[in-house]
Amino acid sequence: MKAVVLVGGEGTRLRPLTETTPKPLIPVMDRRFLDHVLDHLARHGVEEAILSSPYLEETFVPFVAARGDTAPAIEWITETEPLGTGGAILQALDHLATHEPILALNGDILTDLDLTAMLAFHRERGAAVTISLTHVEDARPFGLVPTDDRGRVHEFREKPVDPIPGEVNAGTYILNPAALGGFERGRNLSIEREIFPPVIAQGEPVYGFLSHGYWMDLGTPAKYLQAHFDIFEGRVEGLRYAAPWVHTTATVSLRAHLGRWVAVGEGAAVEEDAQIDDSVLHPGARVGAAARVVGSILGPYSQVGAGATLAGCVLGEGARVAQDAVVEDRKIPG
Ligand code: GTP
Repeated sequence: MKAVVLVGGEGTRLRPLTETTPKPLIPVMDRRFLDHVLDHLARHGVEEAILSSPYLEETFVPFVAARGDTAPAIEWITETEPLGTGGAILQALDHLATHEPILALNGDILTDLDLTAMLAFHRERGAAVTISLTHVEDARPFGLVPTDDRGRVHEFREKPVDPIPGEVNAGTYILNPAALGGFERGRNLSIEREIFPPVIAQGEPVYGFLSHGYWMDLGTPAKYLQAHFDIFEGRVEGLRYAAPWVHTTATVSLRAHLGRWVAVGEGAAVEEDAQIDDSVLHPGARVGAAARVVGSILGPYSQVGAGATLAGCVLGEGARVAQDAVVEDRKIPG
C-alpha cells in the first residue's frame, strides 16, 4: 500500500521551534517525529510514502537521505504553494496515478492505530473513504463525526460550543482515488472542510473507523510534552524509553537532578545542581549550574544560564536565557 503523509504545515502553534524545524522533523527522543510515523507505516506493510512541503522544504533533504533504504521508500514531490491538506493529497494522488485505495495521514499525529484493521474495514464495507475516529471527552477543538450502526458517516458537525464528548476525525484516511476525481487540482483545499463534506453529500460511502488506541496530535507545546510523558508511561505501543531518557552523547552532571519525565537529547548538557522536571531538551541544548527548568521545551542549541528559573517556556533554536533570570510561560525565539 502507498501513503501520503502531510508534512507541509507551518506549525504556527509550535513556534518558535517550527521557525527553523518543521513540526514533523522535531525530535521525539532519539528520532525525528516523522521517523516514528514512517516506522508505524512500515509495521503495517506500507511500501511507499509520498511527501511534499512548501515550508522549509530544504530541511527535509538530509532527513530523506538519512532514511536511506529504510521502509517505506520515500518519494518527495514539489509543492511550490501551500495546497492545504486536501490539495496536497490530490496532488499526490495524481502523481501516483493509481486506482487502488491509498492511505493519507497528518504527519503530526502520534498513534498506534491499527492500519491493517482499518484497511480490512474499508474493504469489507465497500467504502470510498474511511476516516479514522477517536473518542475525546471535549470535542470543542475538533468538530464531531457521528456514525450510524455500521459506521457510516452522514455528516460532519461543526465544533460544538459546549465541552461534550464524542468521536472526532483522527487525521488518518483511506481514500479510493475515484471518489476525489471531481475536485479542482492545484488549489488550496482543506480535506476536512472542503472535500469530505461534498463527498458525503454526493452519497459516496464514507465510513468512520473508531480506534481506541493511543492518539495525540503534537500540534501544541503542551501536547508535545504530554506525548513524551505518555511514551515514558508505556502508553504508546511500540515505543519504549527509560524515564528519564538521556541520549548517550548528552552530558548530565552527577550532581544534577532529573525528574522522571525528562528527555535530554543528543549532545545536550546539564550542569551541576540544575533541576529539570517535565521537560524536553533538544540536541545541543544547555542548562547551566543550579538552574531550574520545569514544563519547558528547550530548542536545539538553546541555553539556560546558571541559576535561572524557567517554567512553561518554549525556547527556539539558539535562544538564550540570562543567568539568574526568572521566566514563566513565554516563547523565546532564537
Ligand atoms: P498550525 O499552524 O499550528 O495549525 O499547524 P499546521 O500548519 O501543521 O496545521 P495543521 O495541524 O492543521 O495540519 C495538519 C497536518 O497537515 C500537518 O501534518 C501539517 O504538516 C499538514 N499540512 C497543513 N497544511 C499543509 C499544506 O499546505 N501542505 C502540506 N503538504 N501539508 C500541510
